[in-house]
Amino acid sequence: MPFECDVITLFPEMFSAITQYGITGKACKNGIFQLVTWNPRDFTHNNHRTVDDDPYGGGPGMVMMAQPLEDSIIQAKTRQIKLGLKNTRVIYLSPQGKPLDHETAKMFSNLPGFILLCGRYEGIDERLIINQVDMELSIGDYVLSGGELAAMVLIDCIIRQMPGTLGDPESATQDSFVNGLLEHPHYTRPEQYKGDCVPEILMSGNHAHIRRWRLQQSLGRTWLKRPDLFELKFAQGMTGEEEILLEEFKKSYKSR
Ligand code: ADE
Repeated sequence: MPFECDVITLFPEMFSAITQYGITGKACKNGIFQLVTWNPRDFTHNNHRTVDDDPYGGGPGMVMMAQPLEDSIIQAKTRQIKLGLKNTRVIYLSPQGKPLDHETAKMFSNLPGFILLCGRYEGIDERLIINQVDMELSIGDYVLSGGELAAMVLIDCIIRQMPGTLGDPESATQDSFVNGLLEHPHYTRPEQYKGDCVPEILMSGNHAHIRRWRLQQSLGRTWLKRPDLFELKFAQGMTGEEEILLEEFKKSYKSR
């Protein structure tokens, strides 16, 4: 059964970016996930199909009204229930949410589906959030013009976790963050590019050596580029091999 993704959005066309292109486009065509959009404008009861209004208390911008959003959510839930999905979670994409990370994406990829709520304008009436939203999720400490791009980021990183989406099934298990580390560097043809050579070890055919070199690069890069991630990895405990490889990396880095 496909991963069932219902999205509440004022801009359904934006989602063609993931349903029609690349790995997610293929996953969609192959029935690995299904995306259905619900436009709150279709659930308004006024001639102008207005979905927003002025904020109580004054201030800049407009606020999305609760009713068209709630009616959209009800439709999405009804669709999911008809498919046999119970207690589907409603996730509101918002800069106030829990930061999205690899673990959260992995957790979602094990669910049968979810409902994503995309906000626009200054935000959504708080009563809708309190009564209808199960979880708020952020893709980073910056503010986007709406939740759509964030929803697509979330869907993309969930879909690539699912079996059958990537050309090589090992790709997802070797991604950055999977083992709490950044990925090692990659090289392809030609062997020499503008005077720079591919590291010899990658051409040695010795898989044990290549594995060790890659692990060392992952450790070293994480230590250099993401000290925050490195601290976590360190706190969780490193293997003896990892400790030795990192020490070697540090030595050669410092003597450069
Ligand atoms: N909507 C606006 N900004 C956002 C963010 N940083 N993450 C998720 N949804 C958002």
